[in-house]
Amino acid sequence: GLPAYVKIVEVGPRDGLQNEKVIVPTDIKIELINQLSKTGLPAIEVTSFVSSKWVPQMADHKEVMRGIERHPGVQYPVLTPNLQGFHAAIAAGATEVSVFGAASETFSKMNINCSIEESIEKFEDVAKSARNMNIPVRGYVSCALGCPYEGNIIPTKVAEVSKRLYSMGCYEISLGDTIGVGTPGSMKRMLEAVMKEIPLCALAVHCHDTYGQALANILTAIQMGVAVVDSSVAGLGGCPYAKGATGNVATEDVIYMLNGLGINTGVNLYTVMEAGNFICTALNKKTNSKVAQASFNT
Ligand code: HMG
Ligand code: MG
Repeated sequence: GLPAYVKIVEVGPRDGLQNEKVIVPTDIKIELINQLSKTGLPAIEVTSFVSSKWVPQMADHKEVMRGIERHPGVQYPVLTPNLQGFHAAIAAGATEVSVFGAASETFSKMNINCSIEESIEKFEDVAKSARNMNIPVRGYVSCALGCPYEGNIIPTKVAEVSKRLYSMGCYEISLGDTIGVGTPGSMKRMLEAVMKEIPLCALAVHCHDTYGQALANILTAIQMGVAVVDSSVAGLGGCPYAKGATGNVATEDVIYMLNGLGINTGVNLYTVMEAGNFICTALNKKTNSKVAQASFNT
């Protein structure tokens, strides 16, 4: 049956803002994260400790990390592709990190400039240092339902990369539909393969909504027992190394669906919509959340 509680991991400040053409001012990012911290969200991905030549949008990672007010009980993970990023993140006060691999060789090369095998070695270094410091590590697997360069990705490849991340100590594996091409059918086949290798309680889904399938894909995952969902306030998001990929599923829309299913999230929908309104006003753009559009129109 359906899980009684679903944990929502808010990725808007990172996945959303990394993909905005304009560089969002640091104080706006900090205000967004502070507002999200008051909504009941259990985890908010703050920023990335990656190269500012590759992703200039996240160049203020230190300032953002240091500037936010941290609420007790809220996790604030940051992306760290290698030891250099890990050490910078820890120095800036991070207490949780995420490594991010891919099930596609070409995407790995384009996104983090190394092969899958090389990336696993780098992630093992991060995982080892993190373990010594009692820092939890989350692991992403991008292109879990398709790759912008290679097209279809076979579910066993997703399962293989997921297993390696889990074996090195990642407490949770977030399966990324990076370009939002998946459907309930491909989500089900992929999860069946991954669930053979990894306990269900260690799985999360991370759906971009490019083809409008994200909520359906998430519902499919939840019906299969997945109880962690990544989403982005106002549906912000994309990936600079996945051309054409649009935003993540909107946090507001996920909460609305889960509320309707009677699944507890602990998150207040109205205050998330207010945070969405704040960032959309600051970016001078329209929200991608259907629920926010409907609510603010009535
Ligand atoms: P590289 O050039 O291969 O690294 O970059 P390198 O080790 O050869 O070093 C070259 C230069 O990069 C050096 O600087 C290093 O200091 C610097 P230089 O001497 O030339 O001035 N460098 C770094 N600087 C800051 N932080 C670091 C770091 N490491 C090296 N951690 C690297 C490798 C991974 C850093 C680069 O390719 C990069 O930054 N890529 C960007 C990756 C990224 O942020 N992608 C978007 C996030 S992933 C995503 O959106 C998908 C996800 O949402 C899930 C989904 O939807 O599927 C998670
Ligand atoms: Mg993403």
